[in-house]
Amino acid sequence: MVELLPSILSADFAHLGDQVAAAERGGGTAIHVDIMDGHFVPNLTIGPPVVKSLRKATSLPLDCHLMIDNPNEFIAAFAEAGADWVSVHYEACTHLHRTLQLIAQHGMKPGVVLNPATPVELIVEVLPMVHHVLIMSVNPGFGGQEFIPFSLKKLRRLAELRQELGLAFKIEVDGGVAHDTVAAIVQAGAELLVAGNAVFGAGQPEQDARSLLAAARQAAGE
Ligand code: DX5
Ligand code: ZN
Repeated sequence: MVELLPSILSADFAHLGDQVAAAERGGGTAIHVDIMDGHFVPNLTIGPPVVKSLRKATSLPLDCHLMIDNPNEFIAAFAEAGADWVSVHYEACTHLHRTLQLIAQHGMKPGVVLNPATPVELIVEVLPMVHHVLIMSVNPGFGGQEFIPFSLKKLRRLAELRQELGLAFKIEVDGGVAHDTVAAIVQAGAELLVAGNAVFGAGQPEQDARSLLAAARQAAGE
C-alpha cells in the first residue's frame, strides 16, 4: 500500500497547522519534517520546538528527517518534542548502529537515509534494525529539485535486498516526487512517498495531495 508523506518544507510556515490539516484531508498519512543544520546540508530549517507544536496540531505520525551533523546529541530532544519516526543519514553517522539503537531506546522508529551517491549495499548490516530506509532522490537541502533518475535503480536494489533478507522495513523516497515521476517511483518499489513542492508549492495542498496520491495508487495497481 503506497502512502503519501507531505513534506512541510514547502508549506507556508505562518499557517503550518492549517497546511498540515489540509494535507491530511488530501490523504497524507504521516507528516515529513525536514530538520537542517546549515552544516550537513547548506540550509537551515527547524528543530524540536516546531516538532512540539506540530505534535499538538496533528495526530498523524511525525516523520523527522535529520539532515544534521552529530545527530546523537539531539535524539532525546526530538523524543521529548513528540517525534514518532526519526531517520539519520548514513553519511552523518560515524557509529550508525549506535545511533539507530539510541533512537529505538527513546521509543521512536529508527530510519536510515542515503544520499544519491551512497550505494544501498553499505547499510546491509543495519537493515534488520530499521523501520524504514529513505532513498534521497535529490541532494538534500532544498525542496523543488529535479528527481535524479538513477534513484530508481537504488529503489529496485533495496526492494530485492529486503526480499532476499526476509525483512519488512518500509521503502521511502524523498525528492522530486511529482506527477511526472511518481508512477516510475512506485513501480520501482517505493511505498512511502515524500512530497513537498508537489503538495504545497501551488498553494492548494488538499487537492494536490489527493491527486498525487491517486496517481501513485493507480501506478501501484491499488
Ligand atoms: C530535501 C528534503 C525533502 C524536500 C523534498 O532536502 O529532504 O523532504 O522537502 O522536496 P520536493 O518534494 O519539493 O522535491
Ligand atoms: Zn526530507
